[in-house]
Amino acid sequence: MRELEIRPLQADEIDRFVNLSYYAFSGRTPDERSTDFIRRITPERNVLVALEDGEIVSQVMIYEFGVWIDGVRYPTGGLANVATVPEKARRGYAHRLLREALAWMRNELGLSVSTLYPTVYPLYHGLGWAPGGDAVRYSGPPAAFHPSALLPDDHGGRIERRLARVEDVELLEPIYRAFARSRSGYLDRPRWYWEDNVLRLRRSTPPRWLALWYDAETQLAGYLLYTLNGRPLGDTPDAELSVYELISLQPESYRALLTFLSAHHLWRRIVLDSGRDVPVQSLVQNPHLLDVQVPVSGHFLFRIVDLEKALCSRSSVPPSQAASLTLQVRDEAAPWNNGTWRIGWDADRWICERAEGRAPDASVDIATLSALFCGSIDVRQAMNIGALRATADAADGLRALLTTAYPPYSRDHF
Ligand SMILES: CC(C)(COP(=O)(O)OP(=O)(O)OC[C@H]1O[C@@H](n2cnc3c(N)ncnc32)[C@H](O)[C@@H]1OP(=O)(O)O)[C@@H](O)C(=O)NCCC(=O)NCCS
Repeated sequence: MRELEIRPLQADEIDRFVNLSYYAFSGRTPDERSTDFIRRITPERNVLVALEDGEIVSQVMIYEFGVWIDGVRYPTGGLANVATVPEKARRGYAHRLLREALAWMRNELGLSVSTLYPTVYPLYHGLGWAPGGDAVRYSGPPAAFHPSALLPDDHGGRIERRLARVEDVELLEPIYRAFARSRSGYLDRPRWYWEDNVLRLRRSTPPRWLALWYDAETQLAGYLLYTLNGRPLGDTPDAELSVYELISLQPESYRALLTFLSAHHLWRRIVLDSGRDVPVQSLVQNPHLLDVQVPVSGHFLFRIVDLEKALCSRSSVPPSQAASLTLQVRDEAAPWNNGTWRIGWDADRWICERAEGRAPDASVDIATLSALFCGSIDVRQAMNIGALRATADAADGLRALLTTAYPPYSRDHF
């Protein structure tokens, strides 16, 4: 077997990286990819490549983001552009590179968790990533989005509608942050992410429209970002009003923005992607008019990278009763997590320390623990399927540690 060298990308190798990305994923041209690359990351820090005979055969990019989980912002490695040249597929190169990326994220980048949007689920699940967010796609005629009469109204509120522009990052970011930071799975978006993906200012796609909702006190308290695709009266079957994001800090804002949406009566279809953290079916007057889909393959995967760091940073709300347990964790791909840990609440924070040799009162693999950590599965469900074994007291302790206020969601593909 030939020797595989795994190392960071060098600054003069960006062309080689973007060419393989373009070959694997098409989309943005190599030139656009090079420009984006330099704006977003540092090659020597954020890209690992596997080389055989001096040629790149596999690669991974690691965006450094923050992700909120239950009110805490975790430094996160967002994996993207994972690709192996097709002539060297299924030789374990991506697997080896991703293992290396786990160590790199922990040791060099100081990251505690990782997220990604997979095309090939088994590749990542085999290494400990678990299903994270639970996105739901609601679609239907505009009338299906008419708001529930139970939503309170602010008669003094108003909507401002216009095309999104670059200065809107400053306007929208605080509203988004106030909405996202107490939830789970939402990305703390860097500036480039707002510009390229949220506002779409650098893409040759239809522009994003923005509807801003101001309350009677003229405070901005909600917004809707959306795209008009095709022509409403044309014969294009895929003509639709597609909502990128509906953010609302007050119930009155939901009412106003849904009323606004439902006024687009010439459009055959409105599509709204949302998480289960927002009770969309309770927001509308008649949920039976909605077509509801759960596009599982578009959901993000989540993994704990550094168990000790991640658990110690967990939300600092004191548990209602004493919480202490000995947890055995199986993590073959990240051996620094593997083993037995004593976990408990100490005065004002969670502690997590090695307890080798102690008999565990709970046992779990890293993928299940990752799913528990981000809230995509709960302790009882994990025990029901045999993925978590725990005594009753240990299960209570894990519930105190891991229960999230909201189910996780992110609409931020990267
Ligand atoms: C997906 C991709 C990166 C895999 O690279 P690779 O080096 O061939 O992967 P590995 O050999 O390390 O595969 C490890 C395991 O992942 C899974 N896997 C890899 N490719 C798979 C595929 N096409 N379908 C299903 N499972 C796959 C298998 O479980 C595999 O183990 P096995 O070969 O023992 O069954 C590569 O096929 C590629 O570049 N595809 C196009 C771009 C892409 O889809 N990237 C992923 C973006 S999230």
